[in-house]
Amino acid sequence: MNIYDKLLKKDAVLSVIGLGYVGLPIALEFAKKIKVVGFDIKADRVEKMKNKIDPNNELCSEDFNGTDIYFTSNPEDLKKANFHIIGVPTPINNYNLPDLTPVLSASEAVGKALKKGDYVVYESTVYPGCTEEDCIPILEKQSGLKCGTDFKVGYSPERINPGDKEHTITTIVKVVSGNDDVALENIAKTYELVVKAGVHKAPSLKVAEAAKIIENTQRDVNIALMNELSIIFNRMNINTYDVLEAAGTKWNFLKFFPGLVGGHCIGVDPYYLVYKAKEFRYHPQIINSGRFVNDSMGFYAAKQLVKKLIAAGKNILQSKILVMGATFKENVTDIRNSKVADVICELKSYGTHVDVVDPYADSKEIEEEYDFSLIDKPKNDYDAVVVAVNHAPYYEYTEEDFKKLMSKTKQPILVDIKGIFRNKINNIQYWSF
Ligand SMILES: NC(=O)c1ccc[n+]([C@@H]2O[C@H](COP(=O)([O-])OP(=O)(O)OC[C@H]3O[C@@H](n4cnc5c(N)ncnc54)[C@H](O)[C@@H]3O)[C@@H](O)[C@H]2O)c1
Repeated sequence: MNIYDKLLKKDAVLSVIGLGYVGLPIALEFAKKIKVVGFDIKADRVEKMKNKIDPNNELCSEDFNGTDIYFTSNPEDLKKANFHIIGVPTPINNYNLPDLTPVLSASEAVGKALKKGDYVVYESTVYPGCTEEDCIPILEKQSGLKCGTDFKVGYSPERINPGDKEHTITTIVKVVSGNDDVALENIAKTYELVVKAGVHKAPSLKVAEAAKIIENTQRDVNIALMNELSIIFNRMNINTYDVLEAAGTKWNFLKFFPGLVGGHCIGVDPYYLVYKAKEFRYHPQIINSGRFVNDSMGFYAAKQLVKKLIAAGKNILQSKILVMGATFKENVTDIRNSKVADVICELKSYGTHVDVVDPYADSKEIEEEYDFSLIDKPKNDYDAVVVAVNHAPYYEYTEEDFKKLMSKTKQPILVDIKGIFRNKINNIQYWSF
C-alpha cells in the first residue's frame, strides 16, 4: 500500500514541524481528514494549541474542531509519523544572509525519526538547491537511510498571505515537487486531500524552490519601482497615487503601490536568491537595488516629516508625533521586521517625541523586539500624525478625528504612508508616498 492510501486509512500519520503562520493551518486542514502530529519546539505555543488557541491569532478555536491532531514539543513523537511536513522559519541574519539554523535543526529532528518508506516535504521558503544540498544530507546522516531508495523528499512552497481570508491554504493552487516520479505522485495526491484549488506538479525540487522565491522577488522589485517613483514625484510635487490612478487606466499597467516592505517574506526571500546567485558568480543588480530602495523607505518617510516640521517652524526637540500602526502590514498582529520601526527610530534620532498606537500589535512583543512601546490612548497635542499601516479601523478616521489628535497644535502635519486619506484632507498639511 502506498503512503497516500495508508494516510487515508489512518495506518500512517502525517506530522507538521513548526506550527506558525504556515504550519498550524496546514496541520489543522490535514487533521480534518487524516491523523496528524503537530510538533513545535516552543512548548508554550504548543500548550496554547492544545487549548485550541492559535498563538498568532490568525485562527479561532472553531478551526480546531473536528480535527485528529496531537500537539507536542517532544521530538520523539515524530517517530509515530511517516509523512513529515517542515514549515519552520527561514530568516536572514544581520548581514542579510540566509539563516538556515531552524530548517537544518528541523531536518535533524526529522532525520532521527525517519523510517524506511517515509516522506519529508519542505514548505519553508529557501533558495533553489537548498533541499537537495543542505537538507537531504542531514536527513540521510541522522537516519542512516538513503534518499530515493529508503525515503522520499518533496518541496511544496507555501503561498498564504497573512491577514488574507480569501486566499487560504485550500483555495490557492499548491506547487508540489518530489525527488522522483513516485514521490511527486504521492505528494501531489496527499496535498490534493486538502487543497481544493488543486496542485501544480513542478518538474524538480529546484524548480519549485525557485518558483516560490521569484514570486516574492517579483513583488519586491515592483514595489521598489513604485517607491523610487514616489521619491521622484515627491521632488516634482506630484502625488504618486494620482499618477498611478491615471496610469492604471491602461490595460497592461501593473497595479503595484509604494509602501514599507517588512515582514518575513517579501523583504527577506530575495536575499536568499541573491546569496545563491553569488555562488554562481552572478551579483544581482536589480534584485539588490530593489532591496536597497525598499529597505530605505522607513528612513526616507521620517526625513520627509522632519523637513516639514522644520519648514512649519517647529522646534524639532519639542515636536510630538503620533505613529498609527506598528505591525509589518495591515490587519495582522505580526510585528517581525516591521519597517515602521525604522520610521520611529529615525524620528527619535532627530530628538522628536514619538507615541505609537496599534489596534492589533502586542505591546509586550513590541518592547521585546524594538526599543519602543505602545501607548493605550493617543493624546491631543501632536505636531504630526503618521498613519504608517492601513489597518481597517483607520479607514474610519475623518479629518475631524485627526484634528482632535492635533487640537493644541498650529500647522499640524498628516503623513499618510499608504495614501488612504488622499483627497479627504483639506485643512491639515498632508503628505503621502
Ligand atoms: N507567514 C507567511 O505568510 C508565509 C507565507 C509563505 C511562506 N512562508 C514561509 O514559511 C516558513 C514558515 O514561516 P512562518 O511565518 O509560518 O513562521 P513562524 O515564525 O510563524 O512559525 C514558525 C514556527 O516554527 C517553530 N520552530 C522554529 N524552529 C523549529 C524547529 N527547529 N523545529 C520545530 N519547530 C520550530 C517556531 O516555534 C514557530 O512556531 C518560512 O520559510 C516562511 O518564509 C511564510
